[in-house]
Amino acid sequence: MRKFITVLVLPLALATVPPELFSPLVAQKVLATAKTPPSPIQFPQYTDATAGNWLLFNPDTWTTGFFPATLYEMNRRQKLCGAKHGVGDVDWLKLGRTWSTGEIPLETKTGVGHDVGFLSFPFVEELKINPGNGTAITAVKAFATALAKRFNAKVGCTRSWDSPDPNFQVIIDNMMNLEVLFVAEEISGNHTLRDIAIKHADTTIANHIRPDGGTWHVIEYDSNTGLVTKKRTAQGFSDDSTWSRGQAWGIYGYANMHLRTNFPRYLETARRLATYFVSNIPSDGIVPWDFNAPTIPAPRPADSSAATLAVNALLLLSQRELTVGNSTGAQFWRDHAFSILRDITNLAWRPEWKSLLSNGTVNLPANNKLTGIVYGDYYFIRAGNELKELGLTSC
Ligand SMILES: *[C@@H]1O[C@H](CO)[C@@H](O)[C@H](O)[C@H]1NC(C)=O
Ligand SMILES: *[C@@H]1O[C@H](CO)[C@@H](O)[C@H](O)[C@H]1NC(C)=O
Ligand SMILES: *[C@@H]1O[C@H](CO)[C@@H](O)[C@H](O)[C@H]1NC(C)=O
Ligand SMILES: *[C@@H]1O[C@H](CO)[C@@H](O)[C@H](O)[C@H]1NC(C)=O
Repeated sequence: MRKFITVLVLPLALATVPPELFSPLVAQKVLATAKTPPSPIQFPQYTDATAGNWLLFNPDTWTTGFFPATLYEMNRRQKLCGAKHGVGDVDWLKLGRTWSTGEIPLETKTGVGHDVGFLSFPFVEELKINPGNGTAITAVKAFATALAKRFNAKVGCTRSWDSPDPNFQVIIDNMMNLEVLFVAEEISGNHTLRDIAIKHADTTIANHIRPDGGTWHVIEYDSNTGLVTKKRTAQGFSDDSTWSRGQAWGIYGYANMHLRTNFPRYLETARRLATYFVSNIPSDGIVPWDFNAPTIPAPRPADSSAATLAVNALLLLSQRELTVGNSTGAQFWRDHAFSILRDITNLAWRPEWKSLLSNGTVNLPANNKLTGIVYGDYYFIRAGNELKELGLTSC
């Protein structure tokens, strides 16, 4: 009997992790990009579509937190995997701190507006290692204050893009920015930050999600009345479609809201969004850039970053199911995380590129596709670390 249970649960999980997840190439490639930061500092965001070389961007870009955060993930991997993490004796923490330094001026003046949550990622990681680091504390508090300033009580959301009043635009991506409010609340004891996060999440449940569990990318509100004036897309296929990366930001965001509050409505919402996501992946297993984009001409572009982000989101959701005693649900989401991970690795793993993965769609309407993407790689590495930490794989 005991043997039977072991066979049922453990080997199933272990067998399905793609070996590339812990390939030495992961550490080798990240190190190659990290070891000589450009001067003045610039950050990788995406690659070209042919040779896979990184394109570099100035610090004041919404994605610049991801590469330093990747270095913190490599530090975590070194601790989890020891010598098997891929390269010899590298001080990943030092590299992470060095690259974060390039972001520091943004704590006082950033042009990225609502995306301060993404910028805060490496500082939040720093605080897990050294909760007393004053630079990281200042950065997190300042990013949270900047986001809180964008909150409109009438609308019940933080503002995304800076359009002139009364036009007030909110994108589903913003569910990812709420975490910085909770981290800053922990540091400062200021509960207003938490209240703002909860209000934003509740307003988003009311207006951003369709009956089928898909999401709109952009909701426009009237900043004076708080009423919805338009539901549309920016980066998706059409106003009625579901952009896959937005959907994945939403799953992660609501699973994280449940982690932060334990409110059942956030678990239910994460489930709804996740159910849409996994039921709309076609039989070839490839996460498309938009679930409603036409399949002709083939191949319909994938978005590997939506896939690796969804893997992390589903693993978090799986953990949340365990907190309510739902082991069936936990196994269900975990199985989907594994199959998405396997399928995207088969499609997009590129040993010869500077990025780990190809087949990212940065912005299809802007014809920016078939690239590596810094956050796609970040979530790929993080998925490996999470699985190792959960005891579901070895390095
Ligand atoms: C504190 O954190 C910042 C930003 O993450 C980093 O650049 C700096 O090196 C850290 N300082 C110490 C003493 O560890
Ligand atoms: C708490 O945070 C909010 C939002 O940033 C701010 O308006 C308020 O002044 C803060 N309260 C205190 C006591 O610092
Ligand atoms: C994946 O990328 C390769 C080359 O980068 C391309 O040939 C292929 O069509 C892409 N597939 C999808 C589904 O995007
Ligand atoms: C367990 O999780 C699954 C998947 O999220 C869900 O469909 C089911 O309703 C959950 N069961 C309970 C008892 O909450």
